[in-house]
Amino acid sequence: MYSRNLQPDASNQELERVISRYGTDPHALVQILREVQALRGWLSPDTIRSVASALGLPPAYVEGVAGFYRFFHMRPVGAYRILFSDNVTDRMLGSEALMLDLCRRLGVAPGRLDSDANVSVDTTSCIGLCDQGPALLINHHHVVTRLDSARVARMAELIRARVPVSEWPAPWFEVEDHVRRADVLLGATSEPGAAISAALGRGPDALLDELKRSGLRGRGGAGFTTGLKWALCRQSQGEDRVVVCNADEGEPGTFKDRVLLKRHANDVFEGMTIAALAVGARQGFLYLRGEYRFMLEHLQSVLQQRRDAQLLGKAILGHADFSFDIEIHLGAGAYVCGEESALIESLEGKRGTPRIRPPFPVEHGYLGRPTVVNNVETFCAVCQIAVHGGDWWARIGTPKSTGTKIHSVSGDCERPGLYEYPFGTRIVRILEDCGARDTQAVQVGGPSGVCLPAFEFGRRIAFEDVPTAGAFMIFDRSRDMFEVARGFAHFFAHESCGFCTPCRVGTTLVARRMDKLASGQGSRYDIDVLFELDKLMHTTTHCGLGATACNALRDTILKFRPAYEQHLKSLYFEPGFDLDAELSIARRMTGRDDVGAHLEN
Ligand SMILES: Cc1cc2nc3c(=O)[nH]c(=O)nc-3n(C[C@H](O)[C@H](O)[C@H](O)COP(=O)(O)O)c2cc1C
Ligand code: SF4
Repeated sequence: MYSRNLQPDASNQELERVISRYGTDPHALVQILREVQALRGWLSPDTIRSVASALGLPPAYVEGVAGFYRFFHMRPVGAYRILFSDNVTDRMLGSEALMLDLCRRLGVAPGRLDSDANVSVDTTSCIGLCDQGPALLINHHHVVTRLDSARVARMAELIRARVPVSEWPAPWFEVEDHVRRADVLLGATSEPGAAISAALGRGPDALLDELKRSGLRGRGGAGFTTGLKWALCRQSQGEDRVVVCNADEGEPGTFKDRVLLKRHANDVFEGMTIAALAVGARQGFLYLRGEYRFMLEHLQSVLQQRRDAQLLGKAILGHADFSFDIEIHLGAGAYVCGEESALIESLEGKRGTPRIRPPFPVEHGYLGRPTVVNNVETFCAVCQIAVHGGDWWARIGTPKSTGTKIHSVSGDCERPGLYEYPFGTRIVRILEDCGARDTQAVQVGGPSGVCLPAFEFGRRIAFEDVPTAGAFMIFDRSRDMFEVARGFAHFFAHESCGFCTPCRVGTTLVARRMDKLASGQGSRYDIDVLFELDKLMHTTTHCGLGATACNALRDTILKFRPAYEQHLKSLYFEPGFDLDAELSIARRMTGRDDVGAHLEN
């Protein structure tokens, strides 16, 4: 069952080497599982037992953690594990047909291993390459962008000839940055260390004041005031504070953090170091989504350059009392791990289940220590504020939403990519700049954000009007907004972590009800049920995933009602299956097929 790229006999010494690098720390479990799986291809019961025994954990616990993450395999897998990105924008670019074509050429059914146990082809949630899709992920390590029929045909040949992925055509793996409009963040050219020097010059208290004056609010979605978050962390009881950069970027349609990490990694790490200075932390983590594994070496090398330049490590810039270092942790395919408390659980080597809050991470975060979690873009903004001051930042944007915001623009437009604007910019301006035509709707902030029809394009991007974590997906008039919402419903059902019943059951009920409408069995009653489910989930779920899972649904029902009505069979109740057809077995058994044996009679 093993394939030739895998090393079934990777010795226990290799496993021990991986484990010893982490000092048998059970909190490194997720990282250890990733590395061991990279060596052995999958996590066999033997491997699970070996890891468990080395870390002093019960095997069932290790299995439970591994089972949480989509990128861990507890069954043998092929040498080529292909995952097509399945965001609506990939589908709009033809990803479904390309995947079926690849499956046909390889003689494998979607989601299954082929008869030689060499290749599997499946889908995965958005991999953050919507500006250059359709895209796919191979072996959780490489990404192929701009797929077309020619690439798929050649890929099938290479796989059949068992050519290692490292020998495939290099242009396939190119990831463009597509920076279309740069402002103070994407256009920044700061020297490494300049912002830390400015921050050290001010000192922690003045730095926090500066940050509060800037009015900076977090860019990861919730928009919490960064200065206040840091001040709370600094004030909280407990030593050994921690700074975490949230680079999970799982919201479909969002890819700005990918570009910031590639072009402005120094700014991200510098922002984290400034946070450490402000709150008094010595340890930092960058939590990188597993889909961005291809950037790991680049990020490690920037970290090393910074250590060499005394911008990380002990005695930063010669200040004997200021030491701070950063480790990179890789996620393993779970959208919910972008939620800060789930992310902390994952950092601690556990299943990514969101915690009960309060206490908030600023008081009780990583290993119970006060922890600041911020988004990649937030740390870049901090860097600029440290250099230019809070008043400078506050003059950009609107009074309640200061500074700029980076948008990941994708979908029906001529120039997808990154667009940075001051807060307060109107939707219509972004549509004009990216060459969108005949636009029917824009989904701002991803599936958990808001869906705007044309009459709302005069609205502004701002926390007080249209808030966003960064996704800007455009749909022209040829698109079926019901299908867009149905895709999002399946995304949430798939990504629900299953911890709380309203979300676990609710997201599945919503997805099934949308499928019922899609199959032509729907009635207005189903739409009423969808509204009820939205209300229920909004108020009863444990974390933001469940609470926002119906946002797109609610918006599209209210604003694109005809898209739903065309799927309605009647105004009243319709069952989700054909009752008369279900009776066919009984008819056969009784040998009856007369008029009276049919339901409508
Ligand atoms: C389901 C879910 C997923 C999230 N994903 C992300 C993410 O990928 N990146 C991010 O920065 N914040 C994400 N957040 C928000 C974080 O919980 C947190 O608010 C944020 O990282 C704080 O950073 P900020 O203050 O700089 O925005 C997510 C929240 C939820 C509920
Ligand atoms: S709301 Fe959903 S994702 Fe959040 S804890 Fe509950 S089941 Fe998990």
